Amino acid sequence: MTPARCSARAPGKLYLAGEYAVVEPGHRAVLVAVDRFLTVTVAPASGRGRISSPGHATGWRSWGRPRPDGPAEADDGAVDYVVSAIRHVEELVRERGAGTRLFDVEVVSELDDPSGRKLGLGSSSAVTVATVRAVAGLYGLDLDDTSVYKLAMLASDAVEPIGSGGDLAAATLTGWVSYASPDRQWLRRARRERSCAELLSRPWPGLALRRLRPPGSVRLRVGWTGRPASTPRLVAGVRDRVHRSGATGGDEVYASFLRSSQTCLEALTRALEDDDARAVGDHIRSSRRLLADLALMSGTVIETPLLARLVRIAEQHGAAAKSSGAGGGDCGIALCPPSTQTQLMCRQWRSAGIRPLDLSVHTRTEEDS
Ligand code: PMV
Ligand code: MG
Repeated sequence: MTPARCSARAPGKLYLAGEYAVVEPGHRAVLVAVDRFLTVTVAPASGRGRISSPGHATGWRSWGRPRPDGPAEADDGAVDYVVSAIRHVEELVRERGAGTRLFDVEVVSELDDPSGRKLGLGSSSAVTVATVRAVAGLYGLDLDDTSVYKLAMLASDAVEPIGSGGDLAAATLTGWVSYASPDRQWLRRARRERSCAELLSRPWPGLALRRLRPPGSVRLRVGWTGRPASTPRLVAGVRDRVHRSGATGGDEVYASFLRSSQTCLEALTRALEDDDARAVGDHIRSSRRLLADLALMSGTVIETPLLARLVRIAEQHGAAAKSSGAGGGDCGIALCPPSTQTQLMCRQWRSAGIRPLDLSVHTRTEEDS
């Protein structure tokens, strides 16, 4: 018996280090999941299904199947993360010989501000992961975390072909996550030749995802600096400019950035697992310097003046801080050793026009599914 309705929630995420390098196959990042959630509920429907989500102008839209048992299609024709996630889970359902059903989908999100301001916590990745989990639940599919991540990655690649998928790994695994991205060119070729089930069961070149033992001696504080940046535009811009400067040695400088980032991330991962607050701080600072070099080489603003201010204040309190994610605004993170007076630090952030976000690292429990 499959359940009548099924809910799943996925958390928001923040990058701690490894940004930009992680979009290249096999390159690493460390992320955390945070305790703000997006919940997807699916419930059987007849006639047409409804997708209600806060992001949609009219609040909802309908969907159906133009061909019996064919792929889900929204009436407005748009393939967004929800529709793409439904399609990918149902591909697996069909491959396993079962029939598809029609259902309503309701999305409720805490990831953006009540005023609708985007905080950069990864609502696209959370909606993709939560939809995969909820729809899989409706069909009674029991998927492990790697399969959830892989389906979410395939679904997301069909909508937005830029990005590493680190956000999906964090939303799936939760806690402190070490991630290396798969080779997307390989993945797209494999996708044309193999079934979803086959792709789920075989290793993906470059991909590594693992939840780290949570460090006890570092606390995370997050400050929001406003003016969210468009991540795909920043990523495409950096890559474009780096490769265009190939004639002047840009490719070699970029290769060296990738090597240094990889070394830094290996050391950071070890320091987190050893719960060595001082070493964690050192590697967060190196990661910030590497991003500053990348920003210079590509003529892109990653650390805005307000993010730089956030870092300076955190450093005055003994914490190590940097921009989180693509930068150009959005959040900065501070990893604080036990000696940091975090309340005072947050007060000073506030006086500087930075909004401390009341977030903690979230690790998934059985109740989440
Ligand atoms: O801005 P965010 O939090 O979505 O992070 C983007 C991180 C990048 O490495 C720049 C891109 C990616 O998809 O990994
Ligand atoms: Mg961002």
